[in-house]
Amino acid sequence: ENRSLDHLRAPVICVLGHVDTGKTKLLDKLRCTNVQKSEAGGITQQIGATNVPIDVLRELTKIVRPPKGSQPFKIKIPGLLIIDTPGHEHFRLMRSRGSSLCDLAILVVDIMHGVEPQTIESIKLLQDRGTPFIVALNKIDRLFEWQSNPKKDFWDLLKMQKDHTKVEFEHRLSSAKLQLSEQGLNTKMYYEYSDPKEYSWIVPTSAITGDGIANLIATVVKYNQEIQPEKITFSEELEATVLEVKQTIGHGITIDVILKNGSLKIGDTIVLPGSKGRPIVTQIRALLLPKPNRELRIKTEYAEPKNIKGCQGVKIVAKGLKSAIAGSSFLVARCQNEIEILKDLSQEK
Ligand code: GTP
Ligand code: MG
Ligand code: NA
Repeated sequence: ENRSLDHLRAPVICVLGHVDTGKTKLLDKLRCTNVQKSEAGGITQQIGATNVPIDVLRELTKIVRPPKGSQPFKIKIPGLLIIDTPGHEHFRLMRSRGSSLCDLAILVVDIMHGVEPQTIESIKLLQDRGTPFIVALNKIDRLFEWQSNPKKDFWDLLKMQKDHTKVEFEHRLSSAKLQLSEQGLNTKMYYEYSDPKEYSWIVPTSAITGDGIANLIATVVKYNQEIQPEKITFSEELEATVLEVKQTIGHGITIDVILKNGSLKIGDTIVLPGSKGRPIVTQIRALLLPKPNRELRIKTEYAEPKNIKGCQGVKIVAKGLKSAIAGSSFLVARCQNEIEILKDLSQEK
């Protein structure tokens, strides 16, 4: 059984939720970055991706206390690939794209606002695809006289709060749970360890102070390695999707790609669907990997490996990518014959 665990890939995690619930800010806290501040009007308008390596996960979750009588928490996955999506109502397509790619989603809900229109839309997207998710009940620092301590396990932190703060927390939690149940969703707090087939787990967080983020990440890791290890077992069969098509200074039009399974190398011939039904056949000139724990959509320094293996977010440099289509998947042709077959295949899509 343990043998297959050697082959776990990083799960793809999509962050979804209503506008301004704190999706980007949560990732900023995880990365120690400030991407949110650089966004126009503080609104996310693109889909992003971050490779979070195992050492960052280890460091972050070391404060998580195991439940009484159980083993300390051990990370068996090589990392997480986290996709940030916009919450603004105009960007439904990007939410749909992100949620279709992921192994597990984080649904961010503002504890002060409860369920909002794009919360409901996101739940529907996830339910339609049968994608499991964890609810991050964010902005707990806004509870009256909340006392922050991101170095504490959330359970201990909650116990430390003043009585009236605990009462407000319980009140807002049960009102959020009620609103979620009106959407056909049964929820339980993450530490109740209830059957994940019946209940979605809730983890309270603050993206500003960092409270609860260790528990959120530990819950995401556990869910993947314990509840769905088969789903995140690495496969050699290529599974690669275009997230965004865009200009990269010095490289022309490039594609941001989620390589979930399989591998890619410089010189590979890729066949992608193109606009107007004309497939693109081109060779990979470079693979640009952002530094670990850095956002793919933000200009950064890149490593340029000769080949990469899933699961990772990567920028691909090649000729003729102008008519590539965000959201489409692509394949690698090993010989001339295959190019023709793949061209037909990508036209059908
Ligand atoms: P879109 O991507 O535009 O949908 O928004 P978002 O969900 O990524 O939210 P964003 O990270 O842009 O945060 C929105 C606002 O809420 C910003 O002003 C953040 O500083 C603030 N914010 C986010 N998380 C928290 C939190 O935990 N506590 C408090 N007090 N403010 C927060
Ligand atoms: Mg955002
Ligand atoms: Na925002």
